[in-house]
Amino acid sequence: MTPDARPLALFFGTRPQVIKASVLRKALADVGPVIAVDTGQHYDYALHQVHYDQLGVSSPDVFLGIGSGSHAEQTSAILKAAEACIREQRPRAVMVIGDTNSTLACALAAAKLRVPVAHVEAGLRAADMLMAEEINRRCVDAVATLLFAPSRRAEATLRRERVDGEIHCVGDVAYDVLQQALGDGLASRVADGEYVYATLHRAELVDDSSLLRDVIAALGSLPIPVLFAAHPRTVDALGRSGCLPAASVRMSGPLGYRDSLSALQGAKAVVTDSGGIQREAYWMGVPCVTLRRETEWTETVECGANRLLAPRDAGRLTETLTEAMARRAVGWDRTHYGDGRAAERIAKVLAERFAPRASSSP
Ligand code: UD1
Repeated sequence: MTPDARPLALFFGTRPQVIKASVLRKALADVGPVIAVDTGQHYDYALHQVHYDQLGVSSPDVFLGIGSGSHAEQTSAILKAAEACIREQRPRAVMVIGDTNSTLACALAAAKLRVPVAHVEAGLRAADMLMAEEINRRCVDAVATLLFAPSRRAEATLRRERVDGEIHCVGDVAYDVLQQALGDGLASRVADGEYVYATLHRAELVDDSSLLRDVIAALGSLPIPVLFAAHPRTVDALGRSGCLPAASVRMSGPLGYRDSLSALQGAKAVVTDSGGIQREAYWMGVPCVTLRRETEWTETVECGANRLLAPRDAGRLTETLTEAMARRAVGWDRTHYGDGRAAERIAKVLAERFAPRASSSP
């Protein structure tokens, strides 16, 4: 009898996943050996390495170096590379996070090799099957063995859908990361005076030049200056559309995790299409306007922290932002996504299921 010390494998590859993987890697280290696999879906310093640096995370054990491509190119390249990696590393289980092409491809590679899949951020739905992320998250929930829901609603959704896997409501690992960052203290202000923080990256918005032009015009017409941290996809799209933001919109590249939190903390409000920033604003008490028709983080809207504005209605941004800012004084319930101990709960479940144990194989 030899101890079976096969590792757990944690797959990630985009900006928000590098951030969430930071707490998962620490928590899983108590369960046994962990292989951290970065697909390289994101590769620019400002989308990728900066988060390793700002969160003090060590380099991944395996880097797949996939990069960009169409959905099919990117997903299939990750699928092939993840399969080879799983065959080589022989993990007990594969953990994936969220709803990106990396999440889908790695979950599928594992499921086809009959390796149990654990899905972090399971059960979220935006009721929009035209979104790549909605397709990804539904497919991953369908093949997962363990489903870690960030909220009671996500848990209820999974139960209603009668998924095959085992469901655990653990809270949101993004809250764990935020609490640790706030506990360590944030850097001083990243911008002076009053401003609105803005980020945009979703394909549905930025790849439609007419919508993008309307949204950029709306940002320029706000009565408060804007700090606009633009994803490389957005910078390219702005260049293609020939659209120039007004002088009151100060453009920067994407901010590192801690700098983005500082920008949020100092802002009067935030305008975004990011799922992560919707929740960070909710936890930090900053009013948010989300430029989407729907959100998978529905609780933030219902409690008054977040207002949805369809990009085609960008002409109403000033009005919607004013309503959102009025809500700041009243506040909102911040308990919908757990207590900042999600990674610890996930590790506990994995320890029960997959901790190294004696094996009869030689
Ligand atoms: C991806 C996720 C999205 C998530 C976001 C977080 C999918 C389908 N989408 O969107 O759910 O919210 O990450 O940030 O997985 N690019 C660069 N440098 C990079 C990475 C991308 O310039 O380091 C540019 C490329 O032109 C690329 C485009 O951005 O084609 C889109 O990148 P991609 O990884 O396909 O999706 P994101 O928009 O980043």
